[in-house]
Amino acid sequence: MKFRRADILFILLIPVVVLCLWLLTTEQTTLRIPVDETHAEALQAYRDDGKKAAEQVCRTCHSQDTTPLSKTHPPEFRCMFCHKPASSLSSSAGTAAP
Ligand code: HEC
Ligand code: HEC
Repeated sequence: MKFRRADILFILLIPVVVLCLWLLTTEQTTLRIPVDETHAEALQAYRDDGKKAAEQVCRTCHSQDTTPLSKTHPPEFRCMFCHKPASSLSSSAGTAAP
């Protein structure tokens, strides 16, 4: 069977859909980022420059070398896809998720 461009795109789409569904289901139980002194810098980076900038800050503390995440922690590619700021932030940041 010969693969056409559309077939390949469809095959590539499957893992993306699965990943999205998985992210949606994990979000319910996921811990929120505490709004405290410790997280002030990361949350400020989020407000100013968005998720990717904030995640650089997360790594300075939560990394394999300093404070590893638990063994049961899911793949940690993008912290803020799963961990939303604790609710008190969302009123002050226009872009924050509910
Ligand atoms: C300055 C170091 C530091 C930075 C930067 C940092 N954290 Fe933390 N984080 C901690 C410490 C220490 C704790 C445990 C004590 C606490 O709750 O403050 C913690 C706890 C947590 C918890 C668990 C909260 C709970 O309820 O148990 C989550 C989730 C978390 N951090 C996510 C993040 C994410 C996501 C980022 C980046 C946006 C981030 N942290 C940036 C130090 C940091
Ligand atoms: C795919 C979703 C997802 C991503 C991405 C993610 N987390 Fe988590 N995180 C979770 C879940 C779910 C838990 C609860 C884990 C458990 O019960 O073992 C958790 C727990 C934590 C905890 C509590 C302590 C622990 O290890 O269980 C911290 C701290 C934390 N995450 C920080 C981060 C940081 C920092 C990043 C980015 C480097 C990140 N997470 C990326 C879903 C995620």
